[in-house]
Amino acid sequence: MDWGWQNRMGRIFPAPTKRTVMLAVDHGYFMGPTHGLEVPKETIRPLLPFCDALALTRGVLRTSVDPGTSTPIVLRVSGGASIVGEDLSDESLTTSMREAVRLNVAAVAMSVFVGSAHEHSSLTNLGTLVDEGEELGMPVMGITAVGKELQKRDSRYLSLASRICAELGAHVVKTYYCEEGFSRVVEGCPVPLVVAGGPKLENDQAVLELAHSAIEAGAYGVDMGRNIWQSDHPVAMLQALRGIVHDHLTVSEARTVLEEARAGRTPSSSRRPVPPARA
Ligand code: 5RP
Repeated sequence: MDWGWQNRMGRIFPAPTKRTVMLAVDHGYFMGPTHGLEVPKETIRPLLPFCDALALTRGVLRTSVDPGTSTPIVLRVSGGASIVGEDLSDESLTTSMREAVRLNVAAVAMSVFVGSAHEHSSLTNLGTLVDEGEELGMPVMGITAVGKELQKRDSRYLSLASRICAELGAHVVKTYYCEEGFSRVVEGCPVPLVVAGGPKLENDQAVLELAHSAIEAGAYGVDMGRNIWQSDHPVAMLQALRGIVHDHLTVSEARTVLEEARAGRTPSSSRRPVPPARA
């Protein structure tokens, strides 16, 4: 890939670890002003210094993020369905590659709905987006969306959907974590894979365990939303996740980081050598 593409990828997955803690705040495109993200600007402001990249729509980017930011932006370019509509999978491309370039983003992202009524159009749209992205040096992230069918989040489905995204040319895949067989999902996906958090989990421990298990299995990082900004202490949670992704912390060490950050102390994370992400 050309210099521009490499530069963009390198900003999303920064050295030395080449992993990422991406903050997802794109939920409003189908959920509206959901809990924790009612006023995007207020949610984003305290979290921005602690994330490696920010995933959102052009509307929230233009209205709620300072154009002086150096944080790389991953722009959601698909949409067209809502939580109250008939079919969440009825999405298509809503934002052009020209707009993505105008906004100087580091990557574009779209959902694909494998196994849905709109499987064909979402997959061919991904192919089109990759063609346009490669022409301009713009990385494309494919998101294995499940709509309301949360039961689809098993390794068989996630492996299938992630692999299809990679085969169609996605440069990064975002998928969900699953307890059984997640390493098979990673192994079967030949491009960097990041995990979403999904709906809010029962407690902090469960969030840290999810992130830790995903990284241990070979994920390149997280692209998480609700389990950060719906937490009682979003900044501390984000710092603890950074510890897991970048400093190779155990869950218990990350918990200490979280408690220290909650108490207003600078976390003294026990840094240790981090194995590089897969080449
Ligand atoms: C919404 C998305 C979200 O960005 C993704 O699901 C990550 O957020 P969360 O951790 O809240 O699941 O793609 O369609």
